[in-house]
Amino acid sequence: MSRLAVFTSGNGSNFQAIAERIASNRKHTLVCMICDRKNAFSFTRAERLGIKSYYIPYAGRTREEAEKDISDVLESEKIDMVSLAGFMRIFTCGFVSRYSGRIVNIHPALLPKYPGAHGIAESFASKDRELGITIHYVDCGVDTGAVILQKSFIRDFSEPIEEIEKKIHKLEYSFYPEAVEKLLDAF
Ligand code: GRF
Repeated sequence: MSRLAVFTSGNGSNFQAIAERIASNRKHTLVCMICDRKNAFSFTRAERLGIKSYYIPYAGRTREEAEKDISDVLESEKIDMVSLAGFMRIFTCGFVSRYSGRIVNIHPALLPKYPGAHGIAESFASKDRELGITIHYVDCGVDTGAVILQKSFIRDFSEPIEEIEKKIHKLEYSFYPEAVEKLLDAF
């Protein structure tokens, strides 16, 4: 039984998908959700799901200061693995090296294409026929860590961005919780 923390910054739909899978299979524990934005909807989801949450602000302080608070939570909660799900901060290299191989992320594009905060919009604007998602380890670059898994679909160019977005999220919810659970098996 391994112990997971999920990091969010906003909506938290991937956090919820992970929470539901972990709860239904009961192999591991989703110990807590950590969020850097006070009014994020992910706090409402955490409350509904009965999962403990922590607000760790970054505004007005250095990344190292925020990461010190994060490390304290990870230590006190005895967290084995971290999964980022819409967490909009980049960790320092020092933080990442302390948790090497234990932080994973979901990105809504086929990396190395379209890293950063606008993966869906940039995928949509491209002429690429194949669009998709990437699950990867986190390093201290922007979506540059080693790829764990990619899933894709062939787009229909008549589809509006809303449809593409739905397809991307559907892939995320189908594959990210399963991948996280499999990685937790190894701790
Ligand atoms: C997802 O599309 C994820 O790939 C990206 O940010 C989005 C988060 O959505 N990193 P949500 O907060 O899980 O609803």
